[in-house]
Amino acid sequence: MSQPKISIVVTGSNQGIGYEAARHLSKLPHVHLFVSGRDPNRVQEAIEKLKKEEGCEAELDSVVMDIEDAASKHVIYAAAVGLGDYVERDGLRTIFKDTFAVNSFGTAIAAEAFLPLLKRSTVGPRIVNVGSGSGSCTKLSKRGYTPDSDIVYQASKSALNSITISLALANPEVHVVVLSPGNVLTRMNMHGGGVHPSEGSKIIVDYALERKGTSPGFYNVQGELPW
Ligand SMILES: NC(=O)c1ccc[n+]([C@@H]2O[C@H](COP(=O)([O-])OP(=O)(O)OC[C@H]3O[C@@H](n4cnc5c(N)ncnc54)[C@H](OP(=O)(O)O)[C@@H]3O)[C@@H](O)[C@H]2O)c1
Repeated sequence: MSQPKISIVVTGSNQGIGYEAARHLSKLPHVHLFVSGRDPNRVQEAIEKLKKEEGCEAELDSVVMDIEDAASKHVIYAAAVGLGDYVERDGLRTIFKDTFAVNSFGTAIAAEAFLPLLKRSTVGPRIVNVGSGSGSCTKLSKRGYTPDSDIVYQASKSALNSITISLALANPEVHVVVLSPGNVLTRMNMHGGGVHPSEGSKIIVDYALERKGTSPGFYNVQGELPW
């Protein structure tokens, strides 16, 4: 028997972890994949690249949206901005606002916008948020713990954890998880270290294809993480 078709939107999939998640998913003939980003050209380039990949069998479409833009109406997977050294230039208030606009409330608003569509799904609707281990308040509050990111990024990912819990509890029919991909070599961390995005994206693919874990749930490749 053929597998039921699954529609998956991967936000921020023109590059980095999102692109690699899309690349894994593009090999599956039962997937209708929506490659998404804020720049139409970059999204189109990503689609062309995926089509040239060996074994690309998914049905490919695009969704151009900026999850910071209130007019954008679709999203499943969260894109992010890194803090870097911008505090001096832009001020902490601006950095907080801009980072939360994408990592936290942009994701929440976009997920809310998608809920009516998700609820019509007959294959077990799910939302896979991409968070970070540094969003764990339990870990951060432990004495002696040295975080590997800054206060703004951590807070935005803690907020995403809270959003994940609220979305899951308010919508029991939708399976909602937040995942930590670990340290991955992408533009966001200035290509500074970690595993290749092809590896880092696998956890996202697993949770996108199957309702794994509990809803709400917070996981990395090793298993459950403390909120
Ligand atoms: N890399 C790591 O070590 C690491 C660790 C833990 C968690 N994460 C999380 O993994 C996710 C992906 O990060 P990455 O490392 O793959 O970063 P990346 O290479 O910088 O990719 C980020 C993607 O998000 C898109 N994006 C940024 N702002 C957007 C917006 N306002 N609307 C729509 N799309 C937007 C980017 O599009 P453009 O090309 O248009 O900018 C790009 O496609 C993030 O949520 C990040 O916090 C990463």
